[in-house]
Amino acid sequence: MLPPGMVRLKGQSGSVEGGPISGSDFLQLRAEDAPAKGLTAWLTAGLRDAIAGRRLASGARLPATRVLAADLKISRGVVVEAYQRLIDEGLATGRTGDGTRVTDISGKSEMPHDRRRALDELRLPFPPPPGIDIDLSPGVPDLSAFPRVQWLKAEKSVLDEITGSDLGYGDPGGTPKLRAELIAWLRRTRGVRAEADDIIVVSGVAQALALLAQTLRQDGVTAAAVEDPGSRGATDQMAHWGVRPEPVPVDEQGIQVDLITQDAALLTPAHQFPTGVVLSPARRRALLDRGGLIIEDDYDAEHRYDRAPVAALQGSAPERVAYAGSVSKSLAPGMRLGWLIAPRRLQPALLEAKHGSDLGNPALPQLVLARLLASGDYERHLRLVRSRQRRRRDALLAGLERHLPRARVTGVAAGLHLLIILDTGEDDTALAARAAAHGVLVHPLSWHRQRPGPPGLVLGYAAQPPDRLTEAAQRLGTALTPPSRNRSGAPSS
Ligand SMILES: Cc1ncc(COP(=O)(O)O)c(C=O)c1O
Repeated sequence: MLPPGMVRLKGQSGSVEGGPISGSDFLQLRAEDAPAKGLTAWLTAGLRDAIAGRRLASGARLPATRVLAADLKISRGVVVEAYQRLIDEGLATGRTGDGTRVTDISGKSEMPHDRRRALDELRLPFPPPPGIDIDLSPGVPDLSAFPRVQWLKAEKSVLDEITGSDLGYGDPGGTPKLRAELIAWLRRTRGVRAEADDIIVVSGVAQALALLAQTLRQDGVTAAAVEDPGSRGATDQMAHWGVRPEPVPVDEQGIQVDLITQDAALLTPAHQFPTGVVLSPARRRALLDRGGLIIEDDYDAEHRYDRAPVAALQGSAPERVAYAGSVSKSLAPGMRLGWLIAPRRLQPALLEAKHGSDLGNPALPQLVLARLLASGDYERHLRLVRSRQRRRRDALLAGLERHLPRARVTGVAAGLHLLIILDTGEDDTALAARAAAHGVLVHPLSWHRQRPGPPGLVLGYAAQPPDRLTEAAQRLGTALTPPSRNRSGAPSS
């Protein structure tokens, strides 16, 4: 008797759990049904079905591409491409020498109840709720594009070269090698004005905000202006450390600077999260003129498609701006590696807070990132993902135009997400729930708002291949078709 989730395959006595499999029965596809066009999509859909139906269990190794191709009488290239799509979608993992395996999620159900409940209360974006097969949560880059080969190569040369002292407790503000490379990069690409010694290496923008909030609290600051809508994660971070986020509305020119009443203001000037607007030159000037501390969250600076990047505000007022960025959107959020460049008067307290938190970031990833920056591999990687993301954005845009023509789309020139505004008169949490019922996870705009405003949906596109985005747009079109206005009584503007 086989345990649940395993199937016995034709011509094979073992199970699919963990071991290699041959044959194609688990697919429920027949060679004679193969379409003349769209073979890859056909096979990918069959594989997805097999995973969803647990005919392929967690951790199962997929058949060798050669074997499956022969079984289905298709070319091996089609199988290779279909496996790659599963990897892109996070449904499978591929490793040299170990073939392609169904992503192992078996550990998740064993999580202790209290831990599960704590994670649920944090409302983290993982794992996606049951029934979701296209996750458009914003803020996630294409993780399948992580430059594994370059990282390994860089890590190897770093390990060949470093001495024992490079692995000891170091400067809590980060290794000098990384700070030197970073400052050159940020000066060149973001117009930042600072020295290597002004950088504090942190574990992401989140930690930069945590350190700033702690430091502001010591100075008696208890509130900071934040964009509304704005990044919920960033606002939560400030609030957690005792700095109350005071919402200031955002319009098509960015945050409404004349409505800021707090000394400190946290904002995303280059690409406002989540609306995607760029802070206008007039507002930039007004912001710089008004005094007070500006916390500049440059979270997705590298992802520009249709226009030149806007320089960082920090370059215009280094003594007024605390600038934060990270590799979360360029490499992977799991790296937890970022930087903070604060006005010099704040640096001693920030270094003390960093030291008090964790004594400094891990040395090895810092040295590897320094190597990637120096070799040009980081920049080459960015160029690659930028063109890939542009194609993904275009696929989603085309799909939305076709299937959801009533939606107003904004924030498309940059970033990893776009925003759609719907004038159906409906609450966006209800719209997101309807999308979820069709298997598509999106963020309601209200989730990122503190005060009520027009309903919208935030759609992250970077982590999905173009055909899945087309599919997502089609499902959104079906899910979000407005209900009859007559019955709801809403005005038909
Ligand atoms: C606007 C914004 N700021 C900050 C963060 C956190 O970034 P990090 O991973 O660098 O801590 C995110 C994450 O999604 C974000 O969207």
